[in-house]
Amino acid sequence: MGISIYLSRFLTLFLCLVFPSYLAIRGTDSLSDTALLFSSLSRRAEAVHFALTSPLAPAPAPISTEATGRRRKRYPSFPDALAHSINSFEQYAFLAEKVLQRKHARYAKQTPAQKAISNKIGYSTHFEKSRKAVELNARFVEQIAQIARAHYHTGPGALEDEEDADFGLVDLAFGHLSRDWSTQGAKERQAVFPRVLDGLERHFGGKGRGKKVLVPGSGMGRLASDIADLGYDVTANELDYGSILAYHLLTNHTHSLHQHTLQPFATKWTHQANPSSRYTALTVPDHWPNKSVKLVEGDFLNMFPEDAEFDAVVTLFFIDMSDNVIDFLSNIHRLLKPGGVWINLGPLKWGTHSALQLSAEEVLQLADVLGFDVDQTSRKSIDSLYAEQPETLLKFTYVTQFWSATKRV
Ligand SMILES: C[S@@+](CC[C@H](N)C(=O)[O-])C[C@H]1O[C@@H](n2cnc3c(N)ncnc32)[C@H](O)[C@@H]1O
Ligand SMILES: *[C@@H]1O[C@H](CO)[C@@H](O)[C@H](O)[C@H]1NC(C)=O
Ligand SMILES: *[C@@H]1O[C@H](CO)[C@@H](O)[C@H](O)[C@H]1NC(C)=O
Repeated sequence: MGISIYLSRFLTLFLCLVFPSYLAIRGTDSLSDTALLFSSLSRRAEAVHFALTSPLAPAPAPISTEATGRRRKRYPSFPDALAHSINSFEQYAFLAEKVLQRKHARYAKQTPAQKAISNKIGYSTHFEKSRKAVELNARFVEQIAQIARAHYHTGPGALEDEEDADFGLVDLAFGHLSRDWSTQGAKERQAVFPRVLDGLERHFGGKGRGKKVLVPGSGMGRLASDIADLGYDVTANELDYGSILAYHLLTNHTHSLHQHTLQPFATKWTHQANPSSRYTALTVPDHWPNKSVKLVEGDFLNMFPEDAEFDAVVTLFFIDMSDNVIDFLSNIHRLLKPGGVWINLGPLKWGTHSALQLSAEEVLQLADVLGFDVDQTSRKSIDSLYAEQPETLLKFTYVTQFWSATKRV
């Protein structure tokens, strides 16, 4: 294979998961604002497609995948996806400015009469206000990048070409921060977290203290932290450095609650009710991340070699992220002790990359086949928003599926 498995995995993840979820969060109306992002992505995708399909590609030298992976890696000491995330955080101000410039170009193209009318309703003031908000956000994300550079010993040099930076990655991180660690996100959390925590407490009969719980795909880590607050011994696992790096800042480099302020919607002008809603400010964190949570960085399928390590596995908005749900469910099953509990809450928003796009009933049939006893009485459908701007005029509701299942003894 002429193309590193890593690169193709990353692209699949990006094109199929991150970009669609970006659209889900921001709405398709923001497409024009992501045109740039998309064109650079499609260039990369074309390159990969070419490398994968071109019959003229020279036969690769017979070396192992592992060696190929290593040779193609730009940095031997840390993942390329980390370099990409740091670069994206560092280029945020520049990328956000481009988004604003495109809006300004469309505004400026109006006739003088149209411009005068739009200014009567104050439209032109938004460019300056948004720029100020972007500066505020930039100070925050620069901290994230600096901490990451120190933590992973990247040195001061450029990690990636500037134009590879990705606005969507930072924007998604803002959405996740808002959901997990802001007061504004409390409503979204309240809709789903208590159900999950209650499922755990029921399974352990309130005697869960010290039990080992794994939360794969932990995102920004709030659920993992809340589970730890109940006394469980929690391992969180995440592979997206957009989330991981922001989480580092919150857990290890934050000295007071509500220390960090951001205006995540400053570049999002669609679905706004009034002029000021674009500038809604959030402060994070609204609660201390529990430092006893161990964060394992990397792919859930590769990072846990030991079988039957956990008393519980909790998946929140996670199982539909899989390339193949059989792999995720088998891995959950393998990692559980016999009698251990799997608690799930989330949508079934399978990406186009998913080998199987199962219905809820089929997921549970699969669970049964793989050796789970599904507690049919536990099942619930719960309406849930995810990382939505509180004042948005577009609300995307997931009818999430909750269940609890135990590993058959
Ligand atoms: C929709 S997000 C949900 C995050 C969090 N559970 C929440 O509810 O806020 C799914 C997360 O799973 C992560 N993820 C996807 N595949 C993964 C894998 N194979 N290993 C670890 N994390 C993964 C993604 O990076 C993403 O952060
Ligand atoms: C953090 O988690 C530990 C382990 O579960 C727990 O003992 C502790 O009370 C938690 N801290 C807070 C502030 O809840
Ligand atoms: C926080 O700092 C401790 C001590 O340096 C380290 O062991 C841990 O991995 C760090 N955690 C995060 C999430 O950065």
